[in-house]
Amino acid sequence: MFITFEGGEGSGKTTQMRKLADALEARGHTVWTTREPGGTPVAEVIRRVVLMPEATVEALRQARGLPAMQPEIDDITPVTELLLMNAARAQHVVAIRRALASNTIVLCDRFADATLAYQGAGREMDEATVHAVTALATGGLTPDLTVLLDVDPRQGLRRKLRATRNRLDDEPLAFYERVRAAYLALAAQEPARWLILDATQPQDAIAAQIWQAVATRWPAAISGP
Ligand code: TMP
Repeated sequence: MFITFEGGEGSGKTTQMRKLADALEARGHTVWTTREPGGTPVAEVIRRVVLMPEATVEALRQARGLPAMQPEIDDITPVTELLLMNAARAQHVVAIRRALASNTIVLCDRFADATLAYQGAGREMDEATVHAVTALATGGLTPDLTVLLDVDPRQGLRRKLRATRNRLDDEPLAFYERVRAAYLALAAQEPARWLILDATQPQDAIAAQIWQAVATRWPAAISGP
């Protein structure tokens, strides 16, 4: 069982992933909670480069005497962002496949749909290119279930202000509105895979709906391994 959690900034997906992991572990399942970009050592390093390039370069610069970054020349381009997200993913997919093969339930905080939403819709990159690069990274690995925690970006960004911020937290509101619309469109295209939930509901109510969806699709979730 490979379940992914998607949503805009501050949608509470990480909390919900943790709650589902706890419920599954309580029934004796082996669960791996992971995230993208990241999830393996190399992919976590790529995460730092793509989400916090200044801090990452600065740390290496002091150790290796690299020149300082130059504004504009060294800004991460959309193409670099697309490739780094997928470079991290290609590494991560190896680990996910291995976990699934050993009957570990994999819960992942964002996956390939995030690239379609953020780089495709958010950055307005060519859709066919984004699809092709993402498919190259996943090698066809698709989640069994994707939970979309849908929230108005204005509300989500307010929540996110209180949490750790990264390079993708400073886009204009229209960017996050395109991301939200893209997620809803992706979910509409594949309703059997997606569960769309209103992220403004109380956390326990959301968790109960996720549990219900998992148990309906996969009765062994309740009975245990
Ligand atoms: P998060 O840990 O808050 O989900 O932050 C990860 C950020 O990276 C978030 O702003 C979404 C972004 N992202 C992409 O732009 N493309 C991707 O493919 C993934 C996985 C994440």
